This record gives sequence, C-alpha cells and structure tokens, in this order.
Amino acid sequence: MALDKIEDLSLQETLTRAETDEVEGVTVTKITHSIWDQVWNFRARPDDLLIATYAKAGTTWTQEIVDMIQHNGDIQKCRRASTYKRHPFLEWSLPKSSIQSYSGLELAEVMPSPRTLKTHLPVQLVPPSFWEQNCKVIYMARNAKDNLVSYYHFHRMNKIMPDPGTWEEFVEKFMAGKVLWGSWYDHVKGWWKAKDKHRILYLFYEDMKENPKREIQKILRFLEKDVEKEVLSQILHHTTFEIMKENPMANYTKDFEGIMDHSVSPFMRKGVIGDWKNYFTVAQNEKFDEDYKKKMADTSLVFRMEP
Ligand code: A3P
Repeated sequence: MALDKIEDLSLQETLTRAETDEVEGVTVTKITHSIWDQVWNFRARPDDLLIATYAKAGTTWTQEIVDMIQHNGDIQKCRRASTYKRHPFLEWSLPKSSIQSYSGLELAEVMPSPRTLKTHLPVQLVPPSFWEQNCKVIYMARNAKDNLVSYYHFHRMNKIMPDPGTWEEFVEKFMAGKVLWGSWYDHVKGWWKAKDKHRILYLFYEDMKENPKREIQKILRFLEKDVEKEVLSQILHHTTFEIMKENPMANYTKDFEGIMDHSVSPFMRKGVIGDWKNYFTVAQNEKFDEDYKKKMADTSLVFRMEP
C-alpha cells in the first residue's frame, strides 16, 4: 500500500516515528517500555533457540540460515511465512490499531515448540528464564562502521523508527549509544563476555561473508544437526544475498507495507563489508576510531572492517 493511500485512510498517526524511553539506561521504544514487565517475565522453554543481534548486524540472514537448517533445506517450508512471523521478535510490539499490528510475545506464546525467537536486547536485558532454562543462543555481530551505515539507512526507510536526523547527527547518536537498543559497543562486548557462561555461539558477519560454508557448519555443530552435502549446498545457495533479496518471505517487502519504504533504501540494501568508506569523511573516521579505541580497550573482541 502506498504511503498516500494510508494517509487517505486516516491512519497517519500510526506512521509517526517511534518515541523512545529507557530500560536500565538502554533506549527502547515507548511501546517496548510499556510492555517491559511482560518481556522481562517471558517464560522461555528449554528447547527455545534465541537469535540475538544488535539491529542490522545480519539478523535476517542468520534467521534464514537457521530456518533452512531446521527444515533440512526445504525451501517451501521456509517460505511458509515471512521472517517476522516465523521467528517471534520478543520485545517488539505494534499497537492493535496500527496498519500491521504485531506482538512478538503473543506470537511466541501460541507457537509450538521448538521455537526460534529473535531479540535485539543487550545481554543484561534478556529475560532471565532463557538462562534458567539453559537455552541456546546464536549471536551475530557486525563491525561498528558497517553496522552504523546499515542502521542509518534502516532509520530512513522505516517510518516508525526514530528520526535519524542527518548522517552527521546519526553518527554522533550512535557513538553516544543514544539509538534504539542502546550502545553497539556495550552490546557486542556484553554478549562476548556472556558466551563464557552460557550456551552462546558468537558469530561475525564478516566471517560469514568470507566463508559461509565454514560458518554454517559451526551453526550445524552448535545445533547438533547434520545435513547431507546437497542440503548444505542448498542452504548456502538459498541464503546468499542475491537470493534473499528476491525472496519476499525474507526481504521484508511482505511486512510493514507503507511502514518500510524500500524505494528510499531497500531492506536488502548492499550486504557487503566496507560500505562505510562511502559515508565516513576522513575527519569523521579519525574521530570515530579514536573514540572506538577507548570504548573497546577493555575487550579482546576484534572486528574486521575490510573485506
Ligand atoms: P546492509 O544495509 O549493509 O546491506 P538485519 O537483518 O540485522 O536487519 O541486517 C540487515 C543487513 O544484513 C543489511 O545490511 C542486509 O543487506 C544484510 N543482509 C541480509 N541478508 C544478507 C545476506 N544473505 N548476505 C549478506 N548480507 C545480508
């Protein structure tokens, strides 16, 4: 549905950009804030799998790979519904009155086990039942600069994300951690630390780009699954950027029509490493690097920013 059509239907108020609030100093939407008690008290089941990421780190890619593994490479089964519906987005909710109402909690509640769920929460805000039930978690991280660029474009194309402001303003907000789901730096470091205590497979977008076969094999081992060689090839093929870009069940063209404007910037935008070089000025880059060094001084985590 085109944007003007939505305005015709007097649904304009549902398209206002999200207002934000904070949970323990982490920026979330006002709606997530309003349901926070329910999110925090979410009852995980022992066979739940959680896919956790900072937004725009490769969530959808990980979801498609996992779904393909869980369905033994059966493409039709993976096309049963759009990504959003296949894997409930734990803390995400859109009001019933909006163009496309959504409640990750409600979707999860009625979903038969084993469930695969999605979250962008930093590790300290993950509902404790996931740890009590010893659930497995796959975490995908992406280098800060590409993550930031992708996030900026996502704010532009998704009319219910907070207003990103100019590129310059968004870079500042990102560095200050004043964006939805909080600080990228704290997010990747927090999950990195947590992996020594819990069943967490920590993956990198850059590794997945470099050698998807090797990384998918890591996921297979983590999930204690085995697939035939042909199935692995099928998974590899089906989850390439080019194929996913054309897959309406994975490229978000079936979700949030009128909310996501793919003509501003497609959800499946570029899918590369190093696009940040097209955005950062030399001065911006120097400032970012200096700040990055300080914020990342207390971790052994290393990211690759080049292909
Ligand atoms: P870009 O905006 O840099 O292109 P998320 O799913 O967490 O929202 O992340 C979206 C980002 O992952 C986008 O990055 C998108 O293009 C990229 N992506 C999605 N599927 C991909 C794939 N199969 N291969 C590489 N990148 C992919």
